[in-house]
Amino acid sequence: MEDNSSQVELVLSGDMNQEDEVTHHFHQSHTSKPSQRSPRNICFMVTAALFIFAFGFLIGYLAHPKTEDRISPVCRQSESSEDEDDGPVQTDVFLDWSNLTAFLKTTLTTSSIENSLSLFSSDSHEAGSLGDEELGEKVLKIFRDYDMKPWTDEHFVNVQERPTRGTNRVTFRDATFEESGYLAYSANGLVKGAVLYAYYGQVGDFKKLQDLNINPSGRIILVRAGNISFAEKVANAASVNASAVLIYPDSANYTFDEGMALFGHVHLGCGDPYTPGFPSFNHTQYPPVKSSGLPAIPAQTITASTAAAIMRKMEGPNPPPGWGDGGLPDVSYKLGNDSDTASVEVSNVLVGKKILNVFGVIKGFQDPDRYVVIGAQRDAWGPGYARSTVGTSLLVELARTFTSFIKNETEFKPRRSIVFASWSAGEYGAVGATEWLEGYLSSLNMKAFSYISLDAVVTGPFFKASASPLMYDLIQSTLKEVSSPTNGSRSLYSEVAGSNWEAAVLEPMRMSDPAYPFQAFSGIPSVSFRFTSDKGYPFFGTMLDTKENLYNATSMNLLVLTKTAGEIAGQMALRLVHDHLLRLNVEAYSSTIRRNMPQIFSKSLFFQSGRLPKKLKLQWLLSAMGSYSRAASKLTFSIENSNLKDTEQCRIINDRIMAVERDLLSPYVCPLESPFRHILLGSGSHTLGALRAHLAAIKDGSSADTDLLRNQFALATWNIQSCADALAGSVWDTDNEI
Ligand SMILES: *[C@@H]1O[C@H](CO)[C@@H](O)[C@H](O)[C@H]1NC(C)=O
Ligand SMILES: *[C@@H]1O[C@H](CO)[C@@H](O)[C@H](O)[C@H]1NC(C)=O
Ligand SMILES: *[C@@H]1O[C@H](CO)[C@@H](O)[C@H](O)[C@H]1NC(C)=O
Ligand SMILES: *[C@@H]1O[C@H](CO)[C@@H](O)[C@H](O)[C@H]1NC(C)=O
Ligand SMILES: *[C@@H]1O[C@H](CO)[C@@H](O)[C@H](O)[C@H]1NC(C)=O
Ligand SMILES: *[C@@H]1O[C@H](CO)[C@@H](O)[C@H](O)[C@H]1NC(C)=O
Ligand SMILES: *[C@@H]1O[C@H](CO)[C@@H](O)[C@H](O)[C@H]1NC(C)=O
Ligand SMILES: *[C@@H]1O[C@H](CO)[C@@H](O)[C@H](O)[C@H]1NC(C)=O
Ligand SMILES: *[C@@H]1O[C@H](CO)[C@@H](O)[C@H](O)[C@H]1NC(C)=O
Repeated sequence: MEDNSSQVELVLSGDMNQEDEVTHHFHQSHTSKPSQRSPRNICFMVTAALFIFAFGFLIGYLAHPKTEDRISPVCRQSESSEDEDDGPVQTDVFLDWSNLTAFLKTTLTTSSIENSLSLFSSDSHEAGSLGDEELGEKVLKIFRDYDMKPWTDEHFVNVQERPTRGTNRVTFRDATFEESGYLAYSANGLVKGAVLYAYYGQVGDFKKLQDLNINPSGRIILVRAGNISFAEKVANAASVNASAVLIYPDSANYTFDEGMALFGHVHLGCGDPYTPGFPSFNHTQYPPVKSSGLPAIPAQTITASTAAAIMRKMEGPNPPPGWGDGGLPDVSYKLGNDSDTASVEVSNVLVGKKILNVFGVIKGFQDPDRYVVIGAQRDAWGPGYARSTVGTSLLVELARTFTSFIKNETEFKPRRSIVFASWSAGEYGAVGATEWLEGYLSSLNMKAFSYISLDAVVTGPFFKASASPLMYDLIQSTLKEVSSPTNGSRSLYSEVAGSNWEAAVLEPMRMSDPAYPFQAFSGIPSVSFRFTSDKGYPFFGTMLDTKENLYNATSMNLLVLTKTAGEIAGQMALRLVHDHLLRLNVEAYSSTIRRNMPQIFSKSLFFQSGRLPKKLKLQWLLSAMGSYSRAASKLTFSIENSNLKDTEQCRIINDRIMAVERDLLSPYVCPLESPFRHILLGSGSHTLGALRAHLAAIKDGSSADTDLLRNQFALATWNIQSCADALAGSVWDTDNEI
């Protein structure tokens, strides 16, 4: 009996390699197997064995709950925090969820955050520079001190730097302006053309110009920074055949010195644009391909004072209403005349850089091969205090907190692993993180089940988040448990959420979001969140992203806000490694898909009008959506009725949950051309958004690209259906009645 139960204990405790244990056991029973016995003996032995077995079973059965208690305290722990009904067996030695969160709160202190902030603040840590490497060494050392088995990963990536000699230049009439800021991954060259003011350079802005019969083709577009990313502005301008783009920070939105240079990148994508879809390792030999997101036209940032000097002399028609709300002194915002010619000369240099991603891990005790990844960008163009220092400090603080949970004999054992990652070259469009994903896509498949981004988490007082719909519930329950940074006696949830918390808190995840490649390229449910100001943080990409400015922008609340951000990230990660079943709600996608559909249908009322191919029927897309909803609610039902002690069953259910996001990646497009294959959150012609836009364009009178449309329908339908099939379970469970 004793032996038997200790066997169970060993296997369950997981301190030992389970596989070894099992094979050992197996081996034993093999060797002790009697080879030759008489029939009578065998009969006797069988009876005896049966008796012993029955007896053992009885005792084992009685002893079982107690054993379970002792071995895996967190197993027994309730699955839902809300209905925390601790049964009579509750023995208080072990940490339950509220103990864990309380411990997180007390261990993550503002004073230790402050120490880390000063440790990781640096005036010079551009990607691949010595400063960046030094910070990487610091992270590595800390991870080593915490016994997190750290490792590093090297990539040789291509980044664009300022011209080695002189600067990029803009000439307007007789004046020449030397610009010290620049936009990485711009096209090089000397371009002449008439200047045209295009507000923020959004698609709608160019439409308004078209409505005024102004042709942007061949012109140098002058736009304000803000509202959308630099890369999107340049892509929009290029799509209307502009010859170059100038971007300036308008004084109405950027209240800093008019001579302040601005930095950014204009690659519409993530990662090294010269190795799209595959990693920047030497052994890939860098084939001659380029990302389709690289702009073909030069783009350059100019200071507010240069913009003012140009715009003061610009003539031409008055802009559409509202476009004159800028704050440049003595400037009447005009669109520009054909005679307002300028020239732009960009001569950036492409350089190869060695970058270092640094990792550490806290291994799980039950499913160590399943991990949540927490990451932060380490490099920055200038001081990058809000951009990289806060995130990196929080990363090491969380590492310290989690390891102290384990070291302090609190009996906390994460079920799954937590990987901590410090990325380099984030300023160039999540290059380090994307190259890592590209390099280890197959290894991460069905292993990394969540990503939590710590980038730019604090720039103001208002909480916002962008995430996969699978994580909405997790965000909501976390906000309910974390107290508000301004009033400790109430939850952050009660502060931020009005009647509709999703509308108040959630924002769509944009391509410039550091979590975007995880979500849309790799199909890993991801979340990025931030305390931000309503106007956005003006100092990103300038030399003014400093400690002083960040403290001022957060009304000196930086440490408390950072601690709260740490609690949010920490609790989400804890939840994901603590529960038997992953806290990812597969039903959320039912409504997300449905929300994307009605628009398709209302736009499809004109199906009968004859402008669409006759063979096309909507019903199949609808049924696929129905299949998904059915599969999702079925899974929820089995989750509610599952036996949490059955680890095998838990693992099977978790597998099904983990597959959802990945199965929403379209298998029909090439990652070299459309790396963001997610059909809801990605970008390209395979997305439901593109299908919607296509239908809208047809409705507005443009002719249908019949083949493309039929392809879009077929692939979207099948993508959703196969995701539903996988969610439903094994092939014999598949819902055939599409
Ligand atoms: C866990 O929390 C309970 C109350 O929620 C408390 O009574 C108990 O002492 C705590 N245990 C530890 C180990 O902190
Ligand atoms: C861990 O335990 C040590 C000694 O038991 C104590 O000094 C330390 O404060 C504890 N750490 C935390 C974070 O509770
Ligand atoms: C900025 O973007 C938001 C959201 O896309 C939009 O509603 C708003 O009109 C834009 N602002 C301007 C000034 O174009
Ligand atoms: C841009 O130029 C291409 C080729 O010259 C032309 O086909 C296209 O219609 C132009 N687009 C616009 C918006 O002017
Ligand atoms: C820029 O400032 C103007 C005027 O204050 C404001 O209307 C606009 O919304 C701001 N734009 C952004 C992107 O913040
Ligand atoms: C990879 O290539 C870079 C330059 O292209 C070189 O400096 C580096 O040593 C190479 N690394 C390895 C491991 O061969
Ligand atoms: C544009 O420039 C031309 C030539 O310099 C001039 O004749 C015309 O009046 C200008 N138009 C406007 C609206 O200023
Ligand atoms: C803090 O929140 C509590 C609970 O909502 C409220 O009663 C109290 O007035 C708040 N205190 C302040 C200073 O806002
Ligand atoms: C601090 O921020 C306020 C606006 O919130 C601004 O008016 C003030 O100039 C800033 N002070 C410093 C020293 O930057």
